[in-house]
Amino acid sequence: MNKTIMTVALAALTATAALAQSLPVYLDATKPIEQRVEDALKRMTLDEKIAVIHAQSKFSSPGVPRMGIPEFWTDDGPHGVRPDVLWDEWEQAGQTNDSCVAFPALTCLAATWNPQLARAYGRALGEEARYRGKDMILGPGVNILRTPLGGRNFEYMGEDPYLTSRMVVPYVQGLQSNGVAACVKHFAMNNDEEYRHQVNVTVDDRALYEIYLPAFKAAVTEGHAWGLMGAYNLYKNQHNCHNRYLLCDILKGEWGFDGVVVSDWGGAHDTRQAVENGLDMEFGTWTDGLSFGTSNAYDNYCLAQPYRELIKRGEYTTKELDDKVRRVLRLFFRTTMNSSRGYGSMNSEAHYSTARSIADEGIVLLKNDGGLLPLDTTKAQRVLVVGENAIKMMTVGGGSSSLKAQRETLPIEGMRNCLGEKIRIDYARGYVGDTIGEYNGVVAKQRLYEPRTANELIAEAVEKAKDADCVVFFGGLNKSDYQDAEGHDRKEYGLPYGQDRLVEVLAAVNRNIVFVNISGNPVAMPWRNKVKSIVQGWFLGSTAGEAVADILTGRANPSGKLPYTWWQKLGDVAAHKLGTYPGTWRDGGKIIDEEYKEGIFVGYRWADKEGIKPVFAFGHGLSYTTFRIGKATADKTRLAQGDSITFTVSVENTGTREGSEVVQLYVRDCKSTLVRPYKELKAFSKVSLKPGEKKEVRLTIGTDALSFFDDKAHRWTAEPGDFEALIGNSSDNLKQKVRFVLM
Ligand code: BGC
Repeated sequence: MNKTIMTVALAALTATAALAQSLPVYLDATKPIEQRVEDALKRMTLDEKIAVIHAQSKFSSPGVPRMGIPEFWTDDGPHGVRPDVLWDEWEQAGQTNDSCVAFPALTCLAATWNPQLARAYGRALGEEARYRGKDMILGPGVNILRTPLGGRNFEYMGEDPYLTSRMVVPYVQGLQSNGVAACVKHFAMNNDEEYRHQVNVTVDDRALYEIYLPAFKAAVTEGHAWGLMGAYNLYKNQHNCHNRYLLCDILKGEWGFDGVVVSDWGGAHDTRQAVENGLDMEFGTWTDGLSFGTSNAYDNYCLAQPYRELIKRGEYTTKELDDKVRRVLRLFFRTTMNSSRGYGSMNSEAHYSTARSIADEGIVLLKNDGGLLPLDTTKAQRVLVVGENAIKMMTVGGGSSSLKAQRETLPIEGMRNCLGEKIRIDYARGYVGDTIGEYNGVVAKQRLYEPRTANELIAEAVEKAKDADCVVFFGGLNKSDYQDAEGHDRKEYGLPYGQDRLVEVLAAVNRNIVFVNISGNPVAMPWRNKVKSIVQGWFLGSTAGEAVADILTGRANPSGKLPYTWWQKLGDVAAHKLGTYPGTWRDGGKIIDEEYKEGIFVGYRWADKEGIKPVFAFGHGLSYTTFRIGKATADKTRLAQGDSITFTVSVENTGTREGSEVVQLYVRDCKSTLVRPYKELKAFSKVSLKPGEKKEVRLTIGTDALSFFDDKAHRWTAEPGDFEALIGNSSDNLKQKVRFVLM
């Protein structure tokens, strides 16, 4: 190297070193996040600190422009990336680059009982979010299905805390692998919608810890969720967005949450409580009650000027503020300031294929008498498709999870595209439900207007059904108010729009009826013995048409299992039987007390206790092949505290098609000092088997799976004594029993 080159090289090196030295620590990606947080914090002014803890628009908060810290953008969640709204309004921004892949609703994901698909779901959604410039997805929702009237149950993962926990962890991890935060919602006990702003929940600690909190805890302690959203409702007379018990004691205390608590939109009501009780970022409110839509509304938020004033007046030091800002900065360094995160991708075939796999695996074959399904596509036949849900887009509507899907195949299209030349498809609407198809300015591009009367529609369907070889009825609920939609609960357990009558008259003229129920909730089916097949079709998103056709024709073999109990009638459900829903009004209609009198006995736990036979049990789901579950054995008969035990069971595909079975393990505590459910799901595994193939499935549980929450001692306890592992393929088909002892 000659002297000049050496001098130049040296100068360059010195300059780089000088630059690195002058780089503030918070901008230095090589430094640990906590150091960067502290460095950024000490450089921020009071106003900058106040600014980052509340919204600047419907879905964003400011960063710190002076310091080069970018704005932070959130968006719903949880089934796809919501289209952009105006800065200060819920209405559409009018973009044309904000249509997305709509993934199946979370009830469908839960019904796959496949945690790997939950990871794929989160990852794909995170990629879409990242590409769209969103730093946090407002989801997933993990509230427990307590009543089938709950308007948002379709956004959640069913009734069981264990299943929900196993599914939420990989979803969160997959999502966050993109440098996009999850915001797990709605913490906690947001189990019904109608009076979500007024409901004050009373629940015993056992039910709180055993039923309503586990999924949140798993998301935080195992999934390491960076964000969590407080719920609108109250618990112990305090709004959950600033609830001392839930946020300070449990979330940040017991679980050591280091992320950010985000208010639900408009869920913060009291500045002092917001300051003291764990809220970190406030969104969506117009707390002065006057400034809705005006540009200064955000200044009136609890965590904006009112808080600043209290600090200025000396009523608070910056202790609480600094804790909030540290959390927000940590969030920034994990997302917007994370220079190693990828760029994301949108509307890719890979995302559509993920959506379709989830839909295929989530659809549940509930009943299939005489093997009516799968439809034989090699035989010449006439199939009559009936029902509005065969032609209705379901990605638009339902509240904040509403999407602008780049494409959505309808069930009728899926059927037409795949049934081949031998099958003639005819269609009869049969009933008219809701023809609107509009949400926040996103308009479903279809005309569902129908001038004929109800009787004319029924007559047409019956006439066509008479000489059809098979009738496939796409019915159920939709995303309109008072059905599966945010803000309200369903008014009845029965199907709307006269569908029951229609099924009855069709069944009178045709014995081969398949009912495909589109919903996120169980519904009454008084006619269930008159139809041969029943399929639970959920809200399936962009690839709805392909997925239902995959299942109906056997292109995919159904392997979904119910994530909730399918009750015969509302009176069978604990919350309704005990008259605790929606609750009792007080304070001149400001508060409604809802007491969860059933305690830990939710879903199948209640059915077991009361000896109620549901229409379809939790964990139920059929296949086009058959499986034999062999004798279960355990690797030990006695286990010590802190130890684990592994059960082995063989599963054999005894039919002629490839298929997957979900082996489920429930634990029964034979004798306990505190009352316990008869059994509780504690492990499961989904195995795929070729015809004739046999596999060994291993299910391991630790002593935590044997424990209950001792509310007096306020801790989890695994009591020595006899236990039983009940193993099978549905909560009502657990033929294998293995006894063991906890010492
Ligand atoms: C919903 C949240 C949602 C938020 C923002 C609220 O009304 O309860 O789930 O994330 O709005 O759209």
